[in-house]
Amino acid sequence: MTDYKAEILQKSREYWNPSKVEDFHKKGIDLVMGKREGYRFWDMDGTEFLDIHLNGGTYNLGHRNPEVIGAMIQATEEFDVGNHHFPSIARAELAEQLAKLCPGNLNYSVFSTCGGEAVDVAIKSARYATGRKKVISIKGCYHGHTGLSVSAGDDMFKLPFHCEGEPNAFVQVPLNDIGAMEAELKKEDTACVLVETILATYGFPLPETGYLKAVKKLCERYGALYVADEVQTGLMRTGKLWGFEHEGFVPDMLVTAKGFGGGIYPISATVMNRTAGKWLFEIGRLHGSTCGGSEIGCRVAAKVLEITTRPSTVENVVQNQAVLKHGVDDLMKKYPGFLTGYSQRGVILGLDFDCEDASVSVSKPLYDHGVWAHNARLHPGTLQMKVGLLCDRAFIDELFARMDEGLKEAYQNYRGR
Ligand SMILES: Cc1ncc(COP(=O)(O)O)c(C=O)c1O
Repeated sequence: MTDYKAEILQKSREYWNPSKVEDFHKKGIDLVMGKREGYRFWDMDGTEFLDIHLNGGTYNLGHRNPEVIGAMIQATEEFDVGNHHFPSIARAELAEQLAKLCPGNLNYSVFSTCGGEAVDVAIKSARYATGRKKVISIKGCYHGHTGLSVSAGDDMFKLPFHCEGEPNAFVQVPLNDIGAMEAELKKEDTACVLVETILATYGFPLPETGYLKAVKKLCERYGALYVADEVQTGLMRTGKLWGFEHEGFVPDMLVTAKGFGGGIYPISATVMNRTAGKWLFEIGRLHGSTCGGSEIGCRVAAKVLEITTRPSTVENVVQNQAVLKHGVDDLMKKYPGFLTGYSQRGVILGLDFDCEDASVSVSKPLYDHGVWAHNARLHPGTLQMKVGLLCDRAFIDELFARMDEGLKEAYQNYRGR
């Protein structure tokens, strides 16, 4: 380890987040990101990694995508954060672009800085529109760490911070259990159902065919709104711009974040229909975010949407989806009993391993062979495999070669338990 890297690790322990640094250290991962480019980054000590975690999709278009950086630089010639009280060129144009790219009547955008904040906006909007308080989410979900989003999420993240919310304000039901969902909705006290289209932090289990559409129907029947959290499944990662587009329905609101800012500028959006956006027409000045919808961020996001929806990007995702399937099928044959199954939609996959904690049994051997992938924290035996939209074939071939090396080692450990 270089002296400089050791110094940064020490400062991180001293001034930043001691237990986070220690947690990774205990797993043998003392990573400090240095140079980064495309779908690779380098530790400060020069070790190269292929990035298939992408910080949850933040680097969907690659690290430091030159076109995205170009859009940001150009925006700084003209704009700054702007003043969130006034209409602005960049915000109005991005909102229009989103309205045109979203199906149905998803016509109004509220901009925020991150996914959690955008989920908070969705919950606030639903509460205003319905006059109700309850939020139903799915067991194993993750929607962020901000006030309302963390309350809607798993106990692991909310209980230590006493964010459980008022009794019955946040309830959870199991995925695919339409009876449990109806039992809650029937009480007619629900503002919204908040659903990750595929539960990322639970390892990307696919919803059963027709489940999400049935939930939307129940929402309509019982006067609740449906919020699609598309933070991980949006922006073409499933092969369509929004993950719910595979399911044959349109939500009342969608949330996009992470990759929306191209990994360059933090920005997120809650896109909503007229019903959900009632407050925008009545009390629009009673919610705001100084940096949410920064004009520079809006220009960045506009470029992200343009790159993401290019025919060449969509074609690449379709091709890579098949290549990834083939590659993982091969790995399944090579490591039977250990790699036990997988889920896939587009370029996001959850790889299930016969182990208690894939962050130790799988991530670490992969890390040792130059692949950065993380497990699903709420389903620890599953490894998230999230490949970027613009990866080429050479990258994927190299990825599978490295994964094979890493899994060989992991498999030996597994067999020798
Ligand atoms: C599905 C989902 N929703 C919301 C969030 C929160 O986003 P942010 O970290 O930008 O607040 C995340 C973050 O990982 C996420 O995966």
